[in-house]
Amino acid sequence: MSSLIGPVPAVAQAPAGASTAAAKPARKLLIRTWGCQMNVYDSGRMADILAPLGYAPTESAEEADMVILNTCHIREKASEKVFSDLGRLRETKKARAAEGRQTVIAVAGCVAQAEGAEITARAPWVDIVLGPQTYHRLPEMVARASRAAGAVIETDFPAEDKFDHLPEARASQGPVAFLTIQEGCDKFCSFCVVPYTRGAEFSRGPEAIIAEARQLAAGGAREIALLGQNVNAWAGEAQSGAKWRLARLLRELAEIPGVARLRYTTSHPRDMDDDLIAAHGDIPALMPYLHLPVQSGSDRVLAAMNRGHKADLYLRLADRLREARPDIALTSDFIVGHPGETAADFEATMRLVERVGFAGAYSFKYSARPGTPAAGQPNAVPEAEKDARLQTLQALLREQQDRFNRAVVGRVVDVLITGTGRHPGQVAGRSPWLQPVHATGAAPVGAVVPMQLRAAHPNSLSATMAHQESAAA
Ligand code: 5AD
Ligand code: SF4
Repeated sequence: MSSLIGPVPAVAQAPAGASTAAAKPARKLLIRTWGCQMNVYDSGRMADILAPLGYAPTESAEEADMVILNTCHIREKASEKVFSDLGRLRETKKARAAEGRQTVIAVAGCVAQAEGAEITARAPWVDIVLGPQTYHRLPEMVARASRAAGAVIETDFPAEDKFDHLPEARASQGPVAFLTIQEGCDKFCSFCVVPYTRGAEFSRGPEAIIAEARQLAAGGAREIALLGQNVNAWAGEAQSGAKWRLARLLRELAEIPGVARLRYTTSHPRDMDDDLIAAHGDIPALMPYLHLPVQSGSDRVLAAMNRGHKADLYLRLADRLREARPDIALTSDFIVGHPGETAADFEATMRLVERVGFAGAYSFKYSARPGTPAAGQPNAVPEAEKDARLQTLQALLREQQDRFNRAVVGRVVDVLITGTGRHPGQVAGRSPWLQPVHATGAAPVGAVVPMQLRAAHPNSLSATMAHQESAAA
């Protein structure tokens, strides 16, 4: 399951077919994205599909002829934000209408999937509600919305593959690109809405993925992150009928000219097969970083969560991954206060964290999600207890993250240049372990530059260029 929950500063990408777009009336599109990287990917693809209709990106709601809120339903807080944003958009829509300008408001993503009818009841000024599996039908929905009196709702799980209905040309994403290879989840963890909002597990075929990766590389992507709610459960069927697993796909993608770095997220411990662990040791382009959520260190809670493995499996995986790739950074997700979690269970989580040593983690208080098995359980943990456990856990995780960041200081590592730094004369980039890096000097975006890491700051590392001349390579 993917992490990085929170508003993502992603707006519509530059349209892929600028020349096609130019022939249509100029319209502006604002996409606000919450939640995981899969939503960021979906937002990019929605921008791609609307570009031929003449929609160009904007960041201003006042300017936008169409606003898409691409939403997240994973925790209560994430979905509440959608309704407050919709309240503000109602005013904008009214003000624009007074000037004779129409505004199409669409709610996409997992809140749309889970609460379609409630959205249109609470916010009747919404024109389109579309689930994650139907965004390829957006052009048709936009046309229907401008004719229809009520909202257009499309939240079914259609039989056709949306990936087959998306434009091939992808807007250039810069040096770091996302590529969705798998969607949905069949694991039904007790607390999680994903199997209900994203549907059953589905894997794209390897040929389509490789073609998209080639296109991304040709457009300047140097680092490609493969995405899926259960990305390491990926089992793509090739046109020959052969079933591929993720390690084979990674090996194939690593051969594409221009692809310098590969990552994949988010994984489930149960799907870490031997070949994938080995891949971490033998594919140099596969970055030494793995986000592997464990959620809890207590076997009792893991069973209640329906995670399908014990804490010991996770510890063994961590050891084996480090054997394969000694510098691998492990990150994770944790939930404290799942129904029935005792103080002793929480202690077991603390012990697991101490044993593994994480380079970073996301940790959350359990929040009941309607319709999930855990939501109906009577043995809720008091809010104050959840708060206390979260603070204790986060203090340890923060300490481990700081320790990890300090431990890389002094090393010379490859930094992928992603843009200019905050100060003049600086470049910004990211380390193999996803840490933001800034350095004085010049290097083109997309270059992989060896740098000496000099100091660890709370959210970044500073560095100096080890060999200025290789920046041009
Ligand atoms: N309550 C709290 N955290 C949750 N997550 C998923 N569902 C819930 C919930 N109901 C967390 C998990 C998951 C991450 C993306 O969000 O840790 O891995
Ligand atoms: Fe991840 Fe479990 Fe949710 Fe599936 S049900 S997306 S495995 S947390």
